[in-house]
Amino acid sequence: PASAIAPVPPMGFNNWARSTCAAQAPLDGSPTASYSFQQYMKDNAKGLVDSGLAAAGYQTITVDDCWMRRTAAGYLHGATTWGGSSQPGFDYELTDYGDYLHGLGLKFGIYESSGTNTCSTTPNTATGSEYHEQDDANSFVYWGVDALKYDNCQTKEPLKTLDGRMSAALATAVGNAAAGGRKTPNVLFNESAPAAYNNGATKFDVMNWVRDHGQQWRVGPDIWNYAASTDPWDKALSGYNFGAYQSFDTTVDLARYQSPGNWNDADMLLIGDNGMSSAEERSQLALWSAMAAPLFISTDARKFTPSYLDAHPDQAAHLRESIRTLGNAEVLAVDQDPLGAGGYRVSGGAARSDGTPSSASGIDVVVKQLADGSRAVVVLNKGSAATKYSLSLSDLGFSGTGCTYSVRDLWAHTDSTSTGTVPLTIGSHDNAMLKVKGCSFAPTGQITVARGDWGK
Ligand code: DGJ
Repeated sequence: PASAIAPVPPMGFNNWARSTCAAQAPLDGSPTASYSFQQYMKDNAKGLVDSGLAAAGYQTITVDDCWMRRTAAGYLHGATTWGGSSQPGFDYELTDYGDYLHGLGLKFGIYESSGTNTCSTTPNTATGSEYHEQDDANSFVYWGVDALKYDNCQTKEPLKTLDGRMSAALATAVGNAAAGGRKTPNVLFNESAPAAYNNGATKFDVMNWVRDHGQQWRVGPDIWNYAASTDPWDKALSGYNFGAYQSFDTTVDLARYQSPGNWNDADMLLIGDNGMSSAEERSQLALWSAMAAPLFISTDARKFTPSYLDAHPDQAAHLRESIRTLGNAEVLAVDQDPLGAGGYRVSGGAARSDGTPSSASGIDVVVKQLADGSRAVVVLNKGSAATKYSLSLSDLGFSGTGCTYSVRDLWAHTDSTSTGTVPLTIGSHDNAMLKVKGCSFAPTGQITVARGDWGK
């Protein structure tokens, strides 16, 4: 749709990959039974503010599945307990919670599902929005919700119908509220995830209608979850365990569906305390930024607060590096570039929509066009050892005899020039991220997937 609601990729926090619906203890060792999940979300929000990451752009704080129950009268309210545990859940009305987020200068994101139940609520009794769309949209707007992530479990009708109905209900609720003087002018609609669990023709059919209803949509299945304790790098980035439709590869393949107001969601950032190395964390942010993906941190952001870092020197070095990575303004500017182009791969792993698994090793090169005519280039070393790599600018599509290109290193924050190649040394699972400008550019060398089943 038109880009007014999300002119650049949305940024924020989502608890799901880190905490799912599992109880979360307070960090001070006091009993979980007297620490609500609502307080956990508030403390995460505060961690983003106190670390400077909210100011860097991570502002939409989204509580995922399990926050809700449906009362006998048919209305949504806060769950009394969290995920069926002994941890308290949320207030009956989420008004104070929303006010708290807004008071910190943040936005209030919430989760629902288009089916009769959500994917993970326990007990799972009519928690979904199917047949309740207008009432639920009214509740969200009444509470001050700024963004809705809308999942697709337990559905009875086609997803296109369901997403369309909620999209319209949100518009009606916002319109009614605006007449009553509500200040937030809209609710971002994040369709999660009608395209994620399909491949081939079905996926591209979905890609052709999601933009009619929302601004953001997941294109691959869940990136990872902490409780499953698999290697997050493997799941997120390396391609090793991927089926034919995982986050990074799929999103790169679907670059042509991106533009201001239309964002392919590669799922959450695992940067923080999820077990990735600092190099791997830099690589996830570099790739997500090159894809113009929404940037939603899923970690225990309470640990980003200065007082926690000071009290835990054993964890502080890694977490401070995570904060530096997440807050790298030059990298974020690539993600938030107003042109809104999706990055595309010029060499490395195979294009994924043809079903070919990409390799867990080797070098991937991803290029993204920027509004000022320059290109962002990510060179990712998927291998297990550091390697030298000579980046050929003509292979990326840059051309011009006798030209001198300016090359900005977005991690080192240094400038250099090049007349054709850029010599790089890249650590294992790390990346070089460059901004290259000069001479002319023709986008040759782009690896494309077979277009036969792409719909339009
Ligand atoms: C599936 C989604 O893909 C996840 O991001 C999360 O929202 C869960 N459902 C919640 O049950």
